[in-house]
Amino acid sequence: MTTINRPWAEPESTPLALLLLGRGSDASSERGVECPGELPAPSDPFLVERARAAKAKLGERVFVLGHHYQRDEVIQFADVTGDSFKLAREAAARPDAEFIVFCGVHFMAESADILTSDAQKVILPDLAAGCSMADMAALPQVERAWDVLSDAGVAEMTVPVTYMNSSADIKGFVGRHGGVVCTSSNARRALDWAYSRGHRVLFLPDQHLGRNTAVREMGFDADDCVLYDPHKPGGGLTVKQLREAKMILWRGHCSVHGRFTLSCVQEVRLRVPGVNVLVHPECRYEVVQAADYVGSTEYIIRTIENAPAGTAWAVGTELNLVRRLANAHPDKQVTFLDRTVCYCSTMNRIDLPHLVWALEELAAGRVVNQITVDTDTAHYARVALERMLALP
Ligand code: 13P
Ligand code: SF4
Repeated sequence: MTTINRPWAEPESTPLALLLLGRGSDASSERGVECPGELPAPSDPFLVERARAAKAKLGERVFVLGHHYQRDEVIQFADVTGDSFKLAREAAARPDAEFIVFCGVHFMAESADILTSDAQKVILPDLAAGCSMADMAALPQVERAWDVLSDAGVAEMTVPVTYMNSSADIKGFVGRHGGVVCTSSNARRALDWAYSRGHRVLFLPDQHLGRNTAVREMGFDADDCVLYDPHKPGGGLTVKQLREAKMILWRGHCSVHGRFTLSCVQEVRLRVPGVNVLVHPECRYEVVQAADYVGSTEYIIRTIENAPAGTAWAVGTELNLVRRLANAHPDKQVTFLDRTVCYCSTMNRIDLPHLVWALEELAAGRVVNQITVDTDTAHYARVALERMLALP
């Protein structure tokens, strides 16, 4: 490995990046969810003290979970940080916390609600913190797809597998139909489990994680995978294609990781000789193929931590995490894979004013922004989540 030592270089800002930061307005990506209370001003110089005081007042009654893509201003108040798999386990392992404040996105808070007791309340500080990928698979669309598979005579031997990044409805569907949830750290194990029970998999909603795992890790041919487009009749596939496929990929993707392209990889290799390219499996197949290392958020963190001093890394995942890694490892050169800013706009919705507001309301005895999943959906979603937690 080549040794290089240059400080962190902030990627360039673009008008789009401003929009992603929430400073513009994007009517189609926001659901118009407003904070139902008095949000502190972002300029309030006492926000940190207020968050500390409210958290101290709540004491053991509150447990704050922080996903790695959260802003630094929020992460400093997390009792535990992690990827979606670790946070689901952490939520399940806190039966004594009355409030789980989830600094992440909606599907993660739903999973926490499913895995915690009825007495516990899961709070999402900003209800507009959704996930565009999860929104790409709605229950009526998936039910329609299952009918298409049934009509083609293949549903019976198909096992549905959903990425954690999906709504509770979809997890419930998967649980009801003998399937399992997976995350980016256990997708291979979940697929092995599924193929021990059926001939083919319907993989929801991230086509890239599904394809990358099947082709790169399990040795499938690209032709073994077909892409089901929920916006086309019959998913845009023939009965023959459905019958011959080993993997039916849902046409969904992450708008953050989908921005990294093959030219980003080629360009960084020219810009930083000897650089190691490290990407998340939500990136496109050609990006993952061109990278040196591929893995979940926790894997990315471990890889940088364990890398020798003086090595250079271009990391293809959300910018808050990459910048934090660069700051934590000044002995290594960590750069962002893209030249321009690329945050997850919905993760960024959770900021310090929303966290202060949620904690202060809870401390005052008012439960706000509680995420609840109905009993029937929760039951079947729990079945699919528990199958995942029990994977070898
Ligand atoms: P992990 O946390 O499983 O790595 O997934 C990344 C992600 O996109 C979360 O929204
Ligand atoms: Fe969804 Fe991608 Fe944001 Fe994760 S990073 S919450 S998958 S849009």
